[in-house]
Amino acid sequence: MYKVGVIGCGWVGLAHGSGYKLLQDCEIVGSADPVKELSQHFAAKYGGRIYKSMNDLIDKEKPDIISVCTPPSSHYPVIKTALSRGIKNIVCEKPLAHNTADARKIVRAIKESSAKLMTAFCHRFIFPVMKMRWMIDSGELGDIVFFRNEFSSHFKGVEDRWFSKKEISGGGSMMDTSVHSIDLFRFLCGEVKNVSARITQKMPGISVEDSCCVLVQSEKGAMGIIEASWNLGVGSAFLEVCGTKGRVQYEYWGEFRVRHEGDKEWKTIPVERDINRRFEDELHHFIRVLKGEEELRCSGDDGLRANQIIQAAYESVKQQKWVEV
Ligand SMILES: NC(=O)c1ccc[n+]([C@@H]2O[C@H](COP(=O)([O-])OP(=O)(O)OC[C@H]3O[C@@H](n4cnc5c(N)ncnc54)[C@H](O)[C@@H]3O)[C@@H](O)[C@H]2O)c1
Repeated sequence: MYKVGVIGCGWVGLAHGSGYKLLQDCEIVGSADPVKELSQHFAAKYGGRIYKSMNDLIDKEKPDIISVCTPPSSHYPVIKTALSRGIKNIVCEKPLAHNTADARKIVRAIKESSAKLMTAFCHRFIFPVMKMRWMIDSGELGDIVFFRNEFSSHFKGVEDRWFSKKEISGGGSMMDTSVHSIDLFRFLCGEVKNVSARITQKMPGISVEDSCCVLVQSEKGAMGIIEASWNLGVGSAFLEVCGTKGRVQYEYWGEFRVRHEGDKEWKTIPVERDINRRFEDELHHFIRVLKGEEELRCSGDDGLRANQIIQAAYESVKQQKWVEV
């Protein structure tokens, strides 16, 4: 049985709690959040004792695993402290840090310890994404030419949340949302070679971008078109990969379909696993990694690389040109 502590009991802390609760090999022993009502709410749903501070949780419960579900600028201090108190297994939410310097420090600290770290890029655990990867790897879609991905919504109240405070988040929708897209691109199309980005900021009361468009090119020449917005009345979560022999599209929570060269019509692909189980599935994967049953699918280096590419995207906005990563 793995003893688990969850640090940060906001939206994603609850998602991790729900995931661990479904895993037979895990017991949630504690949660920590400076806002007592949030850890109380967490404990009522998923169990464990409540703590105001992570240090007390670690010292008293000695968890085998912690999930870092706090805002990005706290990830490095939290991980550094956890390692110094003997934690050996860490799941850290995306982005790995609010800037590349901290992401690099996290990766270095993990390498210097004997700890394991998974950057929690949950999209890698969604069935259609895994299926796309199998289709690409098998050659079914031919050479990949285009990757298109939009994650957009209307983020009500963002002006009052840490998401729009650059010193905590590291940026706006590009850092918060496109970091997932960059990781998806790398997972499906390979390493990013260069990037070009543009941003807009129209939502009142915030000083970071609410919308962005990012172009990326892979080392093998695949081109990615990534869009993110917090400012769309009608949002979308859409992913498409187009190759020389076919294209595959996934409308999140909607249709998953493929069309091969010569097909007159689209073919629907059954989604064999509920997308809402992505947190459970990523945590289950981490447990299998700890048991030596699977290779880690998203490492600290993957988190660092995504941070580096997002930083290059901000540099491109500044310089108004393509930036090598
Ligand atoms: N994978 C995903 O799809 C996904 C979705 C949402 C958020 N996230 C990421 O998860 C992280 C948290 O986001 P959220 O939406 O849950 O934010 P949130 O504001 O809902 O929750 C964060 C919580 O952390 C607590 N906290 C802050 N510092 C702390 C500390 N030192 N110790 C303990 N608790 C602390 C806050 O009080 C708050 O309750 C961010 O990195 C975010 O980017 C990932």
